[in-house]
Amino acid sequence: MRILLFSLIFLALIALPLACGQTENLQGHALYDEHCANCHMEGGEGLRQLIPPLAGADFLRDNPAAVVRGIRKGMAGPLVVNSITYNQPMPGNKELSEFQIVNIVNYINQAWGNDYGRISVEEARTWLQE
Ligand code: HEC
Repeated sequence: MRILLFSLIFLALIALPLACGQTENLQGHALYDEHCANCHMEGGEGLRQLIPPLAGADFLRDNPAAVVRGIRKGMAGPLVVNSITYNQPMPGNKELSEFQIVNIVNYINQAWGNDYGRISVEEARTWLQE
């Protein structure tokens, strides 16, 4: 009996963080599909010369602050992604909270083979205030 109890606690301790990570990822994924995929596509491939890709994008990898600010405030002007210049405005999204922006960025940073690390809410808050 005691062994059973211990193994249950042990399992819960392992399963809990895994489950949380997954929920967060699921939320980022759902928010991405709702707010971003109509332009950047579900697979993050973008649209020809009009919309830059997110999958394998060096801009996303190298400019986390500009990405966070761009999601809230929009982006305009020429922007180079993987040596291709894009120049269409991206509208800002004022509906998304800091947490939601962080979840979306942490989703696209790890989706489609990207391995661009994670950002924290504190970082996002600082970048949004700059
Ligand atoms: C109406 C279409 C549209 C929507 C919706 C949109 N974007 Fe964009 N996005 C663009 C365009 C166009 C650019 C290029 C902006 C420029 O040229 O200055 C861009 C640029 C970017 C970039 C930087 C370039 C790159 O490919 O790394 C990122 C990151 C990005 N968008 C993420 C997002 C995320 C995340 C969302 C959802 C919250 C989103 N976008 C919603 C059109 C859109």
